[in-house]
Amino acid sequence: MSRDVQAFDHWIRNEFVELNSALERNYLQQDDPANVAGVGDELKTALEQQGRELIKTLLDEGNTDEGFDSAFDLLGNVGLYMAACRRHEITEPSRETCSPLVEASALAMHIGASIGVTPRFATAHLTTHNRAVNGLYKRFTDLDDEKLFVDYNTKGILAYKRAADALLKIQPLGISHPITADLLDVAHHALTEVISSNKTLFDNLDAEMFFNCVRPYYKPYRVGQQIYRGANAGDFAGINVIDLQLGLCFANEQSYSQLLVDKFLYMMPEDQRILRDCMRRSSIMDEFLGAMDCMEQQWYQQNLQRFIAVCECHGETAIQHHNQLVDKYITQPSKQMEQQHMEKVTASGPPLPVLLNALEKLRDRRAAAKRGDIRTRFDDLIKLKASLHVGES
Ligand code: HEM
Repeated sequence: MSRDVQAFDHWIRNEFVELNSALERNYLQQDDPANVAGVGDELKTALEQQGRELIKTLLDEGNTDEGFDSAFDLLGNVGLYMAACRRHEITEPSRETCSPLVEASALAMHIGASIGVTPRFATAHLTTHNRAVNGLYKRFTDLDDEKLFVDYNTKGILAYKRAADALLKIQPLGISHPITADLLDVAHHALTEVISSNKTLFDNLDAEMFFNCVRPYYKPYRVGQQIYRGANAGDFAGINVIDLQLGLCFANEQSYSQLLVDKFLYMMPEDQRILRDCMRRSSIMDEFLGAMDCMEQQWYQQNLQRFIAVCECHGETAIQHHNQLVDKYITQPSKQMEQQHMEKVTASGPPLPVLLNALEKLRDRRAAAKRGDIRTRFDDLIKLKASLHVGES
């Protein structure tokens, strides 16, 4: 790591956090904590200028080619700075046609394009690829609620990835392999861990603090001329690998493939490869449907029972995400929010009802719910369940 990169990293881990935290405390003292205009102007200026100076030096330094990891890490630091400027409305995409953070934009685009990811900070920067120094990983603020949110996003993502890895290993073995049963058990166990970590988050994260002081750092912002949507915990391949391998979602269905297309550059290049590969494969569900003539075989009974349990557990995580997390932390607080701030609620930009509708469809696909308007696996799962001899394992 060059001296300048190190200096910027040090600033991000220290002064940057202090400035953001001080601003959050100022906002919270107001009657309307969602207002940021005219509050803490000196702190905002300090944040903008200190970051700009450090970034200018890095831009002058040019590409030092220290490998993917350090380039990705630096992009994350520039992104955290740009996201904080957006949060404090130092920049505002609807007010501008080009980001006033000229040097930061140039550096972010240079790095993003050269390593094949979006030129903004992504979820991986804060979660799975966020190195801790002496126990502390990078964050925007020192608020406990932010730490809780990031901790449990990381836990959830890693658990989904464990489930996805296990399901991918079934491909070369096939559904009748005796060890496929073990892999389905691993996937099932990992998904129960998603459920329990989401529950801890739901029980402990303060809704107002999340809505007022954590979520705003995940808003869309401009890099150069282009607006990039906010990061969300779904920006990793594992969740879609599970959807596609189980067969609950279809890569050739328009609204689902739209979601995949939109998220590719928000994922690590390694995840992009995994997902591309997975989009070309058949699903485990289709393999079971094609093997119903073997329903009297022991392997069929043992593995299908496990497969159905994995599908049901995946559906449960989706129901929990939508009906608990999204509802408690986005939908309910939005209803109470003053109308003037409404357009700024979601990370991805679309109006809230549009976003909720899309998330509801995802939930119902994953839960194989009965729906007339989108393709779900409701009927196929009923058919498969009917081929099980209850009680066998
Ligand atoms: C307070 C907690 C959480 C809230 C309020 C929340 C809310 C949301 C919202 C609103 C979106 C839509 C995207 C957007 O606004 O741009 C989203 C997407 C997503 N979130 Fe969360 N989320 C939370 C925690 C988690 C956790 C812990 C996970 C587990 C890894 C997770 C997994 C996902 C996934 C996979 C997506 C992408 C859409 C999908 O494929 O379902 N979320 N989340």
